[in-house]
Amino acid sequence: MYSEIVMDHFNNPRNTGVIEDADGIGEVGNPVCGDMMTFYIKVEDNRLEDVKFQTFGCVAAIAVSSMVSEMAMGKTLEEALKITPRLVAEKLEGLPKNKFHCSNLGAQALQKAIKDYQGKQNKAEGGKK
Ligand code: FES
Repeated sequence: MYSEIVMDHFNNPRNTGVIEDADGIGEVGNPVCGDMMTFYIKVEDNRLEDVKFQTFGCVAAIAVSSMVSEMAMGKTLEEALKITPRLVAEKLEGLPKNKFHCSNLGAQALQKAIKDYQGKQNKAEGGKK
């Protein structure tokens, strides 16, 4: 029921782990299935220099996190914010309909990590004045 590419990302997830000194962290959970996803980002000159994730979840959730991390790596923050659940699912050559909600988590967690970083930047700038 899963595409080959989903199975590949599930069996060999890219960029798993934690960034200890992350610039931004985004955590999301799905109350329905109980799955959890955390994204960590390192930002350099407005670009995602490193992206890592930890996911406790279903096959689709793990494949989605892995794909999102690959799609986001090296992108500017603005570009990365444009990664939508639909784009992720397309890159994975589709997800079963009842698994589509899993792809929302990946994009949401990444966006949260970027917003976390941006929030900290704004605070730091505010503090300088
Ligand atoms: Fe929960 Fe997939 S079933 S994220």
